[in-house]
Amino acid sequence: ADNINDIIDHKLFSEDDIHEMCVRLGKQLTEDYAGKKPLVVGALKGAIYFLTDLTRQMDVAHQLDFIDVSSYGDGFESTGKVKIVTDLATDVKDRDVLIVEDIVDTGLTLKFMKDLIKKRGAKSVKCCAMLNKESRRNVDVDLEYYGSKVGNEFVVGYGLDFLNMYRNIPYVGVLKPEVLPYFVFVYKSKLANPAMLIQFQLLIERID
Ligand code: PRP
Ligand code: MN
Ligand code: MG
Repeated sequence: ADNINDIIDHKLFSEDDIHEMCVRLGKQLTEDYAGKKPLVVGALKGAIYFLTDLTRQMDVAHQLDFIDVSSYGDGFESTGKVKIVTDLATDVKDRDVLIVEDIVDTGLTLKFMKDLIKKRGAKSVKCCAMLNKESRRNVDVDLEYYGSKVGNEFVVGYGLDFLNMYRNIPYVGVLKPEVLPYFVFVYKSKLANPAMLIQFQLLIERID
């Protein structure tokens, strides 16, 4: 599974669709953050592609920082615990903070980041995500801006990963159904460490 066609079933959001989302959201954010000098916080790693395109549609002076948080536990489904992998470098006290995400799913990651940033004294904390997987939400958290809702499909590309790969696909696609069992297997077997993932890649390569 070395090529995009090996894992993508069909395109869900094209490059043009995503560009339109960025233009629309960028305009809205330009209005809403005028004069506020917001701190834009990218949630590593999934948000980076969306962030670079979105911020280039924002005609408003802002600063940039990144945070990497991860939910941990042994399961495919989240355990409800989140930890900071790499913290912000910027003091958020009295700042208007805009978190950028590729996707909000259960809402757990976003709630953790919002609570953390609020606790540190930010003036405001909002989020702009490319995709909103609203049907999967299981914690109460507001998502102020998003590009599109998405159903409960395994989406890959434009930042969204499959086993931390294929983020660079320039559009959002749906994973081939026959690939998904391998993903579930990795998590269920607690193989999610780098050495095992490399072995697992060899397995994936045998799919086709
Ligand atoms: C993904 C995605 C969101 C989060 C959404 O990140 O990029 O940050 O999960 O899921 P949730 O709403 O259920 O918390 P992931 O933890 O896979 O890290 P990544 O961005 O590095 O892929
Ligand atoms: Mn993420
Ligand atoms: Mg991920």
